[in-house]
Amino acid sequence: MIRVLASLSLVLCLSVLGAAQQTGLTDDMIRSAEREVPQLVDLLELKPGMTVADVGAGFGAWTVRFARAVGPTGRVYATDLGAPQLAALRQYVEKEKLTNVIVLEGAETSTNLPFTCCDAVLLRDAFHHLTRPEDMILSLAAALKPGGRLAVVDFPPRPNTEVPAGVPANRGGHGVPQAVVEREVGAVLTHVRTIPMWSSGNQSDLFLTLFRKP
Ligand SMILES: C[S@@+](CC[C@H](N)C(=O)[O-])C[C@H]1O[C@@H](n2cnc3c(N)ncnc32)[C@H](O)[C@@H]1O
Repeated sequence: MIRVLASLSLVLCLSVLGAAQQTGLTDDMIRSAEREVPQLVDLLELKPGMTVADVGAGFGAWTVRFARAVGPTGRVYATDLGAPQLAALRQYVEKEKLTNVIVLEGAETSTNLPFTCCDAVLLRDAFHHLTRPEDMILSLAAALKPGGRLAVVDFPPRPNTEVPAGVPANRGGHGVPQAVVEREVGAVLTHVRTIPMWSSGNQSDLFLTLFRKP
């Protein structure tokens, strides 16, 4: 009996792990997105019918909640790099039966978003991965309508970590100092405010920097 129960729980564990690996979406991501998106909607001044982009959307937890927030008359662009990540994003959007999400392949130097398509853009946990930040900041700004808002959520370099491959060395490790985001993005967009403790789920050291296109 014990052996049968042990085998059953092993099968259950493996199928749960298999499902998690297939999508990569975690409960922690979903909980964080559920907690953050209402606050992001306020900060980004999003209303139903507006267009928002989730750049470096990962597995789409924020994309899906933005899509619900802007409603069927609104639109969400979700971008990332590489076919497997884009497939995972599309799969989650389809599973949630959302018809107002456009998944786009981004690039190293460009969001590939249409010019002035967006009332707002979120770049979450992705700025410190940008290998060509100057080009991407110009591209992010080009995607915003005049008066549009950009939120960059990231974390300071973690102690004893390496700067990710190809990323400028002034990040000082895996992460990016808040002052670097304010300075680099602030050279192109107007800095509105910084929330130093944007803690969420198992990421306890996040900050949020908010910008506006003049
Ligand atoms: C750590 S994940 C964060 C995903 C999600 N935003 C979140 O907060 O969970 C960073 C994502 O940014 C993507 N990324 C990095 N550079 C990018 C670029 N130039 N354009 C679009 N996505 C990019 C990576 O492929 C990765 O999926």
